[in-house]
Amino acid sequence: MAAAKMILDVDTGIDDALALLFALKSDEIGLEGITTVFGNVSAEQATRNTLAVLELSGAAEDIPVAMGAAGPLFGEWGGTVESIHDRNGIGGYELPEPKKQAIAEFAPDFIVRKLNEQPGEITLVFVGRLTNLAIALAKDPTIASKAKRLVLMGGALYAPGNVTPVAEANIWGDPEAAHRVFESGIPITMVGLDVTMEAVLRDEDVRRFKELAAGPGQEPLVRFVDAILKYYFEAYEQYNGCVGRIPMHDPLAVAVAEDPSLVDTEPHYIAIETKGRLSAGATLSDRRKASAFTEINASVCVRVDRDRFVDRLLKVLAAQPLSAQMRGTD
Ligand code: RIB
Ligand code: CA
Repeated sequence: MAAAKMILDVDTGIDDALALLFALKSDEIGLEGITTVFGNVSAEQATRNTLAVLELSGAAEDIPVAMGAAGPLFGEWGGTVESIHDRNGIGGYELPEPKKQAIAEFAPDFIVRKLNEQPGEITLVFVGRLTNLAIALAKDPTIASKAKRLVLMGGALYAPGNVTPVAEANIWGDPEAAHRVFESGIPITMVGLDVTMEAVLRDEDVRRFKELAAGPGQEPLVRFVDAILKYYFEAYEQYNGCVGRIPMHDPLAVAVAEDPSLVDTEPHYIAIETKGRLSAGATLSDRRKASAFTEINASVCVRVDRDRFVDRLLKVLAAQPLSAQMRGTD
């Protein structure tokens, strides 16, 4: 089966880096490009981290990286989320300075161009603020019918929020952009906290990853993944009270884009609270009439097969680069 074409939009912090590695290493995903946005870190730092992870993965050098928005549509970006991702977004780990640079095209223009070149072919996977997509839609509203689907990490329907009692970080970080995207008509799969907080890694999963990944040439990748996971375990324990379990928010979104059978979904009409004093960034569905919706704008993930997801994640992250696999068949 041909690999599914995707554009991945990231604000490369720790779970974004894992999502990126998953998308780069999965043989069922063909990345048409990677776009970056402010969020966990600045757009510049997200771009630098993305290029460095791309080089670490040993994936094809010709995957373009386009830098996008530096702040939300309205208001100001709150700055790097150091508590969870550290100052450089990747747990303080120093990857070598990337040799490649981002392309000159602005990320929203890149998205508009790719969707017009290949209408109906490309799945968009967004694991940060939806700002780049909102700008792309403003530039060319016809792209709403040209994306195959949008799979986004963001929101919370039944689960509580993670930056406020009711809001998840990616939606809260640019609610106006989220509102425009949810109202655009793009078919949406919402991979929110209802499922990502259940899609957890534990210590034994890290040990299994290291066993699976053991092999020639894999040391730099194993060292990086091990170090950022260690940082993430400590940060989630300290700031979120999660002991011995870390949610794989962004990797789950990529995995669901690859294999929708990992989750159960419910149809909803999701409205975004853009202004509430206490509730900005909430993803609301009028559940009083859930069985009688006349219109829906999102398939909301409500259950995840955690074990099957983790198994797939570990195997893809640990996969030997193609060159090493070929050597093994000599
Ligand atoms: O709420 C989780 C999201 O916010 C993820 O995309 C993660 O990278 C964080 O910034
Ligand atoms: Ca993210």
